[in-house]
Amino acid sequence: MWAWWNGKFIDKDTPVIRLEDRGLTFGDGLFEVIRTIDGRLLFYDEHMQRMVQSAACFHLELQPGPEALRGIALELINRNQIRDGELYLELTRGVDPMRGHRLPPAGTPPTLFLLAHPLRPIDPVAWSRGAAVFTFPDLRHGYCEHKTLNLLHNVLAKNFAFDRGGYDALMFREDATGRYVTEGGSSSYFCARDGVVITPALENILPGITRRKVIDLALARGMTVREERLYLEQLWQADEVFLASTVSKVMPVARIDERTWPAPGPVTRALTEAFEELFRRQLFE
Ligand code: PDD
Repeated sequence: MWAWWNGKFIDKDTPVIRLEDRGLTFGDGLFEVIRTIDGRLLFYDEHMQRMVQSAACFHLELQPGPEALRGIALELINRNQIRDGELYLELTRGVDPMRGHRLPPAGTPPTLFLLAHPLRPIDPVAWSRGAAVFTFPDLRHGYCEHKTLNLLHNVLAKNFAFDRGGYDALMFREDATGRYVTEGGSSSYFCARDGVVITPALENILPGITRRKVIDLALARGMTVREERLYLEQLWQADEVFLASTVSKVMPVARIDERTWPAPGPVTRALTEAFEELFRRQLFE
């Protein structure tokens, strides 16, 4: 298998990452996960726009830029013969021999690498009969609108769910009214009540690309969509719950902790079909 690292294609097992890379020592960097099918990169522009915006926010340099990277990414998936897979991009602030918290001098080259591998294994029953998810407190930092490398809490949250036979965590924070949903360890959440689709507002959660597509598809079908603080108490009253991400697409949720829902419900089914159609159309564009 090939990887691309700082300007060249290499065998993916070549030991190239320096121990003093700030991505390793500080989690000082960003990543993206893009779905690839039949030699195509799905929603590439949207993913790269998110990375470019976050890179600007943290003064990270993304070089080469999205257009050149598209060609590199396509060549990588072609070299690795990935039919249905994931492209992983990681950008760090580069090598800093001092491990100083101070930002390294201007001109320090960032580290940028790309991996392309087959889609992670997902039990298809999760789509046909719904996933189980487990609530977990969201104890993360204030930069969750960016896809930063600081994923320790996401890992803990997801493993809390895995240990109970679940697919993902459902993280929550708390205000004076009660506990409200933020997101999963690697997915966005939705519920439907009386045909109205509700999803947590973008308050320190990732602006998911799939989330945005699902909202647009729902609106295009005449559904009402509300982006707001979604309390667990509201969720318990919902007719349906589903999650969404680059790798999960639209996935019904059949169980949260000990509560169960009929899955997939009609709104989830309609949005799954709409998303699949959008997905297929991308392949022929
Ligand atoms: N994760 N929320 C979090 C915390 C995520 O990590 C992800 C994606 C999402 C969904 O975003 P999108 O629709 O843009 O994929 C929401 C990727 C798939 C991952 O970490 O593997």
